[in-house]
Amino acid sequence: MGDFQKKKLVFVFVSICMLLLVGYEARPFKAVDINGMISVAHRGASNYAPENTQSSFRKALELGADFLECDIHLSKDGELIIMHDDKVDRTTNGSGYVKNFTLAELKELDAGGEFHSSFAGEKIITLNELLDEFYGETGLLIEIKKPAMYPGIEEKVAVLLNEYKDLDSIIVQSFDIESMRTMNKLLPELEVALLMKPSIQSLSLQKIIDLTSFATYINFNVSYVNQRVIDQIHNQGGKVLVWSTKDQGWVNKAYQYGVDGIITDFSIWPVESPIQLVQD
Ligand code: G3P
Ligand code: CA
Repeated sequence: MGDFQKKKLVFVFVSICMLLLVGYEARPFKAVDINGMISVAHRGASNYAPENTQSSFRKALELGADFLECDIHLSKDGELIIMHDDKVDRTTNGSGYVKNFTLAELKELDAGGEFHSSFAGEKIITLNELLDEFYGETGLLIEIKKPAMYPGIEEKVAVLLNEYKDLDSIIVQSFDIESMRTMNKLLPELEVALLMKPSIQSLSLQKIIDLTSFATYINFNVSYVNQRVIDQIHNQGGKVLVWSTKDQGWVNKAYQYGVDGIITDFSIWPVESPIQLVQD
């Protein structure tokens, strides 16, 4: 075999290997199999990457989550910021309320190093940036945190979402019922969800009829659901998501109750991830 032919063979061999590698990398890992229930990645795949960051959302997508859950606040200059707490202290290297920072100041903070040094330098992102990257790729469950702290936040969300023609893959939720009533009035075609506090025992049929008149979802911590409430919500045409347990027993119970989906840090319930947890 001549030199040219040998080089050609090596070239073909290397090309095939590269193609196989690229193909493997690009293949989506659809691990979700929850018997028809929706899988929602709580703050992204927050067990594997810093919560509410681009890394955690990308990881959730890779794991096959149907929806990415995120939490939003408003910055000093009126930008919709993705973060769980109203202060930056727990998840970044900064200190103080989100509402006292401009977007430019928030972008200076490190939102990854507190989780693990390998994520150091991760930036806080805006809702705009989340939509830019993930709208159309997967569903988005957007939680407005403490709307009473941010007068007009519903209008800002409505203006932003109005830029998207099809809102079928977006749900907005809050613990604040009146905020979601407002959201529904602003964008009636958008599905809204209500997060219930642990006072579920007092959720009467009358209350359920009122809430399901504008909210598509009534969502609970998994330890506070019961069969009566779930059945009554379903009878009114509503749906139920439960969050955010890593306890298989509770999740099994929720499944038996017939909930519509699970909001979880793992994103792949009930199959535990083969991926190592990120730990120091
Ligand atoms: O989506 C439900 C869940 O996110 C509500 O609790 O504190 O994690 O925002 P929290
Ligand atoms: Ca949340």
